[in-house]
Amino acid sequence: MKNIVAVYPGSFDPPTNGHIDIIKRASKIFSKVIVAVTHNCNKKHMFSLEDRVSMMKEAVKSIKNVEVSSFSGLLVDYLDKIDSFCIVRGLRALSDFEYEFQMALMNRKLKQDVETIFLVPDQEYTFLSSSTVREIASLGGNFKNFVPKSVYKEMIKRGKENV
Ligand code: PNS
Repeated sequence: MKNIVAVYPGSFDPPTNGHIDIIKRASKIFSKVIVAVTHNCNKKHMFSLEDRVSMMKEAVKSIKNVEVSSFSGLLVDYLDKIDSFCIVRGLRALSDFEYEFQMALMNRKLKQDVETIFLVPDQEYTFLSSSTVREIASLGGNFKNFVPKSVYKEMIKRGKENV
């Protein structure tokens, strides 16, 4: 495999086991994976950027060739900054496809040599999303099996602090 640094961008609000599954798969393919946490202007975030970065750092700390970073602005500008051309995104189901396809083609329009590689998570995560985790958590449901242990602990701690 070539010496390729891949960027896995997302809002990760919060990081889920599905995200970690994709990161582990990517880490086996690429020489380095940079998990790039950012703001999605189409979403209202539950956690601050700093919190999402710190939750993600804790969740992936045992994976050797993975780094966690953050950026603001366009993804293609961030790619330029770190000298990468490769974006990794997870594709769970057909319902993800239209949005992901549009984003991949738009990123390629903005920066010609960009490649988006789609990875498919284990099927046990195909139903899982940060938004469902947020909803279950905010309604007092059990979301323990859907997020990394450290994320669960942090969310429970915050929930208690906010009572
Ligand atoms: O986890 P998400 O929220 O689905 O990730 C979407 C994200 C953050 C990767 C996307 O919104 C993004 O790349 N935002 C950065 C701004 C940007 O480059 N927008 C143009 C994308 S075509």
